[in-house]
Amino acid sequence: MKTIRWNMTERKIDIDEAIKEATNVLRDGHTVAFPTETVYGLGADATNAHAVKKIFIAKGRPQDNPLIAHVASKAQLLTLISDLPTYAEKLIDAFSPGPITFVLPSNGVCAHNVTAGLETVAVRIPDHPVALQLLTKFNGPVAAPSANISGKPSPTTADHVWSDLAGKIAGILDGGPTGVGMESTVLDCTEAIPQILRPGAISEEQIREVVGEVATVTEENKAHVKSPGTKYKHYAPDVPLWIVSGSVQFMQEVIDEQQARSQRVGVLASSQIAKALVANQKFALGESPREIATHLYEGLRTFTKENTDLIVCESFPEKGIGQALMNRIKKASSKYIQE
Ligand code: TXA
Ligand code: MG
Repeated sequence: MKTIRWNMTERKIDIDEAIKEATNVLRDGHTVAFPTETVYGLGADATNAHAVKKIFIAKGRPQDNPLIAHVASKAQLLTLISDLPTYAEKLIDAFSPGPITFVLPSNGVCAHNVTAGLETVAVRIPDHPVALQLLTKFNGPVAAPSANISGKPSPTTADHVWSDLAGKIAGILDGGPTGVGMESTVLDCTEAIPQILRPGAISEEQIREVVGEVATVTEENKAHVKSPGTKYKHYAPDVPLWIVSGSVQFMQEVIDEQQARSQRVGVLASSQIAKALVANQKFALGESPREIATHLYEGLRTFTKENTDLIVCESFPEKGIGQALMNRIKKASSKYIQE
């Protein structure tokens, strides 16, 4: 299959025309990747099971892992659900459009393979001009998981999507690098209080400020019962990743020891720590937790079998967006070493 690429950042492009073309591709039952504020998504008409199936095939995604339905507005969101608890409405008003997904009772408008047969549907309004234009023009729900091969780090640029899915999807809207760089918070809104099924850019603290109470369902207390996707391997880099928690000296000792065993060691760390360490290759993620989140997936994709045998990654404090950051890093890792 030939994959069309619309470069939305080019000055000469007719944006309206590109959006119209991409919308028509979706209407015809094909897949289009598009940027959101978090990561690139691979979209298909959420009401068309045949189109949605193409997402699973292109990504190699397990069938029992449901997809997020993306919509342009609260009015569109309401067309997909059978009930909206008061606290969920407050959170939608506070954070949408934005990097948060609401799991709500489905009214059956989305195809059965979007919800993987569950009675709930995950819905979000992304905060990205290209995504919003596409969804507004399409005027219906677009199912979209992250636009990567299943199990690999999510794509934060159109080039990442291209390297994973070119030839397997109908088109890509290239809107430049995404801002947040980490997937949305997935919030279950079917119980008396909201529960975080997947930590993301909207933190537990931010949710608590709006509705008072929120619970976080972690791997340990079985998020996979409610959120099937969390049980699968995710964000895996090409080579093993070790989280090394401790002082710079301790991290350096671990690196030295591995280099003495002829291992080429790559470092993934905040700019300050990356600068202080000596290794075969280094990727500086930035300074603030938000900046680090933005660059994590790019960093994970930088290290390949050709250039590295092992990644040593810094451990970050688990508060605010740090909770989401460490959730992803832990899933990408094969070992945790504490000083
Ligand atoms: O930021 C994001 O959320 C990106 C962009 C493209 O919007 N999308 C994304 O989709 O990360 P995906 O498919 O990679 O992750 C969706 C997560 C999975 O863990 C899935 O199991 C969960 O949401 N999910 C989807 N529908 C659900 C439902 N009805 N109940 C519980 N969890 C659900
Ligand atoms: Mg994903």
